Parts: sequence; C-alpha cells; structure tokens
Amino acid sequence: MKHDMIGDPLNRVDGRLKVTGGATYSGEYKIPGLTYGVLVPATITSGTLVSMDTKAAERAPGVLAVITPFNAPKVPGFQPGAAKPVKGLKLFNDDQVHFNGQPIALVVAETFERATYAASLVKATYKAAPFETDFHKNFDKGVVPNEGKYKDYVRGEADAYKNAPVIVEQDYMLPSEMHNPMELHVTIAFWDGDDKVTLYTKSQGVIGSQRAIAGAFGLDPANVQINSRFVGGAFGSSLRTWPHEFAAVQAAKLVKRPVKLTLTREQMFTLVGYRPLTIQKIGLGAAADGKLVGITHESHSQTAVYEEFTENAVNVSRFLYASPNANTRYKVVPLNVGVPAPMRGPGEATGSFALESALDELSYKLKLDPIELRLRNYTYTDPERNLPWSSKFLKECYQQGSERIGWDKRPAEPGTLRDGEWMVGYGIGCGAFGAYRSKTSAKIKLLPDGTVNIQSATSDIGPGTATSMTLIAADTLGIPADKITFELGNSSFPVAPTQGGSQTCSSVGSAVHDVCVALKQKLNSLAGLPTDSTAAIDYSSILQKLNLPVLELTQDSQAGDEAKNYSMYSFSAHFAQVYVHPLTGVVKVKKLVAVVDGGKIVNRKTASSQMIGGAVGGLGMVLTEEAVFDDRYGRYVNGNFADYHVPVNADVPDIEAIFIDKPDPIINPVGSKGLGEISLIGVAAAVANAVYNATGKRIRELPITPDKILTTT
Ligand code: MOS
Repeated sequence: MKHDMIGDPLNRVDGRLKVTGGATYSGEYKIPGLTYGVLVPATITSGTLVSMDTKAAERAPGVLAVITPFNAPKVPGFQPGAAKPVKGLKLFNDDQVHFNGQPIALVVAETFERATYAASLVKATYKAAPFETDFHKNFDKGVVPNEGKYKDYVRGEADAYKNAPVIVEQDYMLPSEMHNPMELHVTIAFWDGDDKVTLYTKSQGVIGSQRAIAGAFGLDPANVQINSRFVGGAFGSSLRTWPHEFAAVQAAKLVKRPVKLTLTREQMFTLVGYRPLTIQKIGLGAAADGKLVGITHESHSQTAVYEEFTENAVNVSRFLYASPNANTRYKVVPLNVGVPAPMRGPGEATGSFALESALDELSYKLKLDPIELRLRNYTYTDPERNLPWSSKFLKECYQQGSERIGWDKRPAEPGTLRDGEWMVGYGIGCGAFGAYRSKTSAKIKLLPDGTVNIQSATSDIGPGTATSMTLIAADTLGIPADKITFELGNSSFPVAPTQGGSQTCSSVGSAVHDVCVALKQKLNSLAGLPTDSTAAIDYSSILQKLNLPVLELTQDSQAGDEAKNYSMYSFSAHFAQVYVHPLTGVVKVKKLVAVVDGGKIVNRKTASSQMIGGAVGGLGMVLTEEAVFDDRYGRYVNGNFADYHVPVNADVPDIEAIFIDKPDPIINPVGSKGLGEISLIGVAAAVANAVYNATGKRIRELPITPDKILTTT
C-alpha cells in the first residue's frame, strides 16, 4: 500500500478548517449563559491601593460583580504557605501595585460592552510610591539570579580577550519586544459545582495549565479540564498560566456563570510577558590568524520587582566557537514593569545577536571573511561540557547558505557595492538551540475500517503539530495519512509537555512513533506472527476477523541518558542580502536564506513555513520592533498594532529555507532536533552584519531604523 513518509511535504491537516473559519479558537466557544470580564488597570506605577469606589460600576446595567483586592474571594494557591503556591503576580490578593497597568479590579457583566463601560466607572485612591522603570538609570542595580545555572561561568581565564593581539569590545542593545500574536489572550472558565472547572484558554500546554489551575484553586487535576485546540500564535507568551486566567476562574466561581476574559492588545503589552530590554557586552580576542583567544559575554536585562525572569542570553558564547578561555556573566535589573517571558528563541536570539555581531566586527579587524573566521574557530566537540555533539552540520550550513545567497558577490570592503542608488551588502548570523526531549504519552485507536486516531495533550501554536505527527504515524504504520487523525489541545488526553523550547517534534513525535510500533507489534501477535515481523499485514482484516470493535493502546516514551553523554543542539546559519538607501536610510532586505541543521525534517512543507515564520520574527527584531517606554509615567506609548511595527508582507523578502536533513542518531527514534527557535536565532545579526557590509555603519542598538542609519557615522 502506498503510504505517506517522514519528509514528505504534507499539507496541514487542519489547514482547511483554519482558512475557512471552521477552526474554533478559545474565545469563540458559544457557552450558554456566558458573561464577560473586563480588567481595570492601575494608573500608578508603584504604591498601595488605599480604597476603591465601585458603587457606580456595580449599579451600571448588566453588572454581576466587581472584584477588587478589598472583596475578592481568597485563592488558596495565592496564600502564604500554600501547598502549591502560584508564582508571580497574584491579582486582587493584596493592595500592592507593582507596575502601571497591573489589574486592580475585574468587572463581570452580561455583555462585553457593559463590562467595559462599568470598568470605566471604577475609582481607585492610591498612595503612590517612587518607582523605577528606567533600565539605563538602574543598570548598576543588576543582580546575579539565584538559580545555579545563571552563576558566573569561567573556562580557562576570565577576560583573556583583553590580552589578545586583535580585540573587539562592544555593547549591544535590544529593546523590549512584544510577542504580539494575532489571537488575543483569552480565557473562558466555568465551574460545575465547587470542585470542577473547565477552561477554554490560549495555552501552549494544556497539562501545564491544568496543573496550575488545580494548584491555585486546590482542586484535583482530574477535575480541571483545559481545552486549547487552536492557538492563533503565541511565540512563548502562553507557556505559563497568567494572572488573567486565574482571575477568570475566580470570577466564574463568584458569579456562578461562565466568564470570558479577553485581554486588550494594550493589556498584552504588560500582562503576558515580552522579550526583555537587554544590554550585552562582548569581548572577543583573537590571534592574527583569527583563532579566538578569549570570549567574554555579559548581559543585563530587565525583570519585574515582583518576579525574577531569566533566560539563556550568554550561554551561546560558551560553546558555539572553540576558545580556550571563555567567561560569561548574567544579571537582571528589577524594575516596576510587568514580568518578561520567553519569546521565540528566548535568550539565545538575544545572545546570538551580540556574539554574531561582535564576530563580524572581528572579521573586519582581521581582514578575514566572516565565514572563514567561523571555520577557523569551528568546534567538533562541545567546549563547555567537553562532550561530543549528538550531531552537528553547521559547516554544511555555511557552505549551502553561502552558495544560495551569492556570498561570492559580497564586497570585502564595506560600502563599496552599489545597485543604482542603493548600497548592497551581505551578512551571516548563526545560532544554536538545545535539542530537548521530554517524557510524553500517546494513545492510539485502530478501528475495523482501518482508520487510526491518536491523542496526546500537546499543543499547536502554529508549527503544524497535528500534521507532522500524522506523518510520523503514517510512516511508522505504513498507511496513508488520510487514514489518520491526530488530536491535541485537551488536558484529558495522555500527558505531553508544553509546546516550548522546540521540543514538540522530538518529544511527541517519539511517543507517536513508539505507540505506532506498539500497535504494529500487537497486530503481529494477533495475526500469529512474531512481534517484530515486518511482513505486510492488513490491519483492518485482523480486527474484523477477531471481531474486535477497536484496538487501543497507550504508550509512554522518554529519553534515556543521551543528554548526559552528548551535547544536543540544532544549529542555524542565516544569510541576508540587504539594500540600504543612503539618502533615506531605508533598509530593504532583498533575500534571506536560512540553513538549518535540525536533524531529520519530518514535514518539508510545514518545516519550511516554520523557518520562514521565524525569519520574519527575526526581521521584526532587527528592523522594526520596539516597545517604547515612557519612564516619566511607567507606561508603554505604543501598545497597539499601529505604532508597534511587526513586519507586514511588504517588509518580507524572498525567504528560502534549506535543511541539511540528516537524522540525529542519538536524540530520538525519528532523529529530529527541533526548529521553532532556531528559525529566529541568528537572523538579527545576519541583517545587521549585512547593513554594515553595505554601508560601513555598525548599528549596535536594535531596531535598525532609518534614523539610526542616517545618524551613525
Ligand atoms: Mo518558545 S519561546 O519556548 O514558546
């Protein structure tokens, strides 16, 4: 029988539903008796709530409840000494205001419009305290996070770069960037009695959400049902359960009706995380032949006063290049702002922008081609952990990418290549992201008609998880993909990890592979064959012959000791060709080529889309995205899609994704290492380096807007 195979370009199995409006997103469920919650934001940036006047709001038409810190029912997990304490901001649990926009009340009404109107009537009296939101002013208040992995790292000698013959020492800055998925963050919650609750919520991990809600409200997780079948983008903003989700559950309990709470676009600038403003210092020292003598990488980024957010900003400098000496330092600066969150390629995208920019600067000082410089510092083992790579084909990435972008046309001397009025340049930026695999379970059902259903409590925030899982199942079972349905986004399905850290294909893919193998073995034994027989058998006739209405199996799958014995990473090399207009400072990216060693590529088509999407995110990071803060008031001034510029179609060039497509022999049975983050990591540096190559202007503060091109000398 002809069957679909791993690597095939399978169309999205839910593509038709998505483009026809047939896909129901969390906020779109029609729940009988639905009510609407609207949050009231604090208008001070730090201080105490003295009193609140909610009478007018309570009397407004259609209002069911106004929840404030002065009347909110207690949430068990918010209390000191709770068995499962909730991390971070605990809404309505005390009178403290930590940042501007922190919700101080939730109005629940019969309609969204009535809730919105009533929310405008809530009055608060504050005792304002001095606040700190200015990162630059508070730079020296940076602290090393408590967690062990963020302690200072030294290999060989610290700051060894300072004594090298050729030195680069520079600071690189990136502003806060917002995830800004198209879909707003939304939760619908309703209770069944006092001990059971159901949520439709935007989530990257329904099991994580289930545990968080159960912990906060002291419920048996089995009594918390989380649904998140379709997610309209998240990029890391739905990795955790946020305050508004707890608030929706709390409100639904109080009004004894289903409550829908949707954040506004502006509220998403403060309440669901962001990539933190970061300043990094890189010191690179090399011998005249380009061999690195020392790498120093220090990073300061913002966090909230009420919760510490950390990410791997400096780690890439420990292992991406061979250097006998390397040291890193990582600090966070607590401010009166909402807490940051992982954002696609968290930390690594930030760190790689700085490291790969500095390396580019070094290449010009050495008068060495940037690719040649990377080759001279190539590592065949992980210098940080002193372990072999599970697989690494970064050299192949350099080679294929340089061919596709036309690297031979790159001028060695910056600012010397023109096309009409435009200055033309080429750049490379590389990245790495850990290849992770978590324990995952999947359930398979085979019906007598030969169709197969697989369930696992994973998510799909865009990569096309159900599609790639269908392909793995089709290949493993040897049947056509259209005989298979894969279901996700439901907490009652077998346990799967949160869709984060580029681990879904590896984790869930392994469970799907393993449960399919288990099914085949079972069918072999039912057919009287040895379990490992590879003889062709007709699945449905076995069930029919034995009169079995269904054959059902659940299988756990998890890694062994691989991660202890190998360093496992996906690698990327991004290439950019840019045109810069000397009079207007406009940067046009003409072509991007993303070359990736992500192990085996499961679905060529969705994998390409994944790479293109990540590259667009990288374009936003390098050219347009910046959450602008007004430190006089502690508020963002561009909390909307009109003023916060995400790339639109007109900004997006020809983007080509190339895969090395060699299975990793170690990580999992499929050999896939993950693409989600690596698709973005390195793009910003590739473009910034191309801008330098075109103009001779080194922009070290993102985004590279026309004013910076014109004012940099
Ligand atoms: Mo990704 S930032 O782990 O959703």
